[in-house]
Amino acid sequence: MSAPPVTVPQANPGAGYRALRAGIDAAVARVMQSGWYVLGQEVRGFEAEFAAWLGATAAIGCGNGTDALALALRALGVGPGATVVTVSHTAVATVAAIEMVGATPLLIDIEPDFFTMDPGELTQVLDRPPAGLPPIRAVIPVHLYGQPAALTPIIAACGRHGVPVIEDCAQAHGATLDGRRVGTLTEISTFSFYPTKNLGALGDGGLLATQDAGLAANIAALRQYGWRTHYISDAVGVNSRLDEMQAAILRVKLQHLDAQNARRREIAAKYDQALHGTPWAPPTRRDGAEHVFHLYVLRVPERAALQARLRAAGIGTGVHYPVPVHMQPAYRDRVALGPSCCRLTEIAADQVLSLPMYPELTDAQVALVCEALSRER
Ligand SMILES: Cc1ncc(COP(=O)(O)O)c(C=O)c1O
Repeated sequence: MSAPPVTVPQANPGAGYRALRAGIDAAVARVMQSGWYVLGQEVRGFEAEFAAWLGATAAIGCGNGTDALALALRALGVGPGATVVTVSHTAVATVAAIEMVGATPLLIDIEPDFFTMDPGELTQVLDRPPAGLPPIRAVIPVHLYGQPAALTPIIAACGRHGVPVIEDCAQAHGATLDGRRVGTLTEISTFSFYPTKNLGALGDGGLLATQDAGLAANIAALRQYGWRTHYISDAVGVNSRLDEMQAAILRVKLQHLDAQNARRREIAAKYDQALHGTPWAPPTRRDGAEHVFHLYVLRVPERAALQARLRAAGIGTGVHYPVPVHMQPAYRDRVALGPSCCRLTEIAADQVLSLPMYPELTDAQVALVCEALSRER
């Protein structure tokens, strides 16, 4: 007997398009007719609107979130002969970006309640760097699942050592810490607009934000062959441009982002209630932070069995991420580990389970998920 169809997928970028179809179609038609398709007025408009929404001095669009991280490292002068600290419990993209600039990734563990960088282990590696590694030149905390990382102690520890912090905000557009949006709390931050993100394009896109206008000018040059003046490269750059079509689409979607994040939190609150009395605790929220639920993630030791029961009820789930970066075939011999050897990361990878989460989920779909969870009591 074949399984019933999935009526509530875990993610659904097509629903995001359909919800805003008229505005998106008009934006695309405008670009098609304009005759200008890369780095034009739509990109400039989106950069200005995103910077204003975020509360940053400047925003610079680029090809995707991985490139944004690599451009941030380049702009800070980080490359071969440098170590960059980040977590192993993240999208492989965070570590790929460190390797793209020729630096050495040093991966540390997470705070088990929040799935984000452990500031205690960060302090340890900054105070006593592991032997044989080049000097630590940058730290990349990831605001994973929409939950801000513990930036206050992370920034303090890095400040004592003069090491810059790059916030990876790919999963946390709109999340706040002590009333300020993540992405404005450090020198540079990066965003991804992959279609499933809280702010998702209909293709690839990325962006860097900074409070430093000089740094912004350098990044803008680096994303396009190191040009400050057309055809004159005065730095060694790359080609990582945001195209006009995606920028025009993102301008439409940005107008709805705060309301969509509120809807995500509403859905999260319903899941929280439904979990009451089950063996699984709702995601822990950090004090002083506002979570934007890019993903709603449970810890479920017997994950496969619950996934199968939810699947039988037509509910899709996901695992973010099943294999930590330091255990990936391509990376296991290439990355250095902190003193914890990422023990808690390995446990998390075996347990994390993502429930359906996107603002277009209907009340009936949310109710279906809640009923299925309630049956687990
Ligand atoms: C935490 C994190 N960092 C970086 C990236 C890279 O973004 P992109 O897929 O746009 O290159 C992603 C998205 O996949 C991500 O989730």
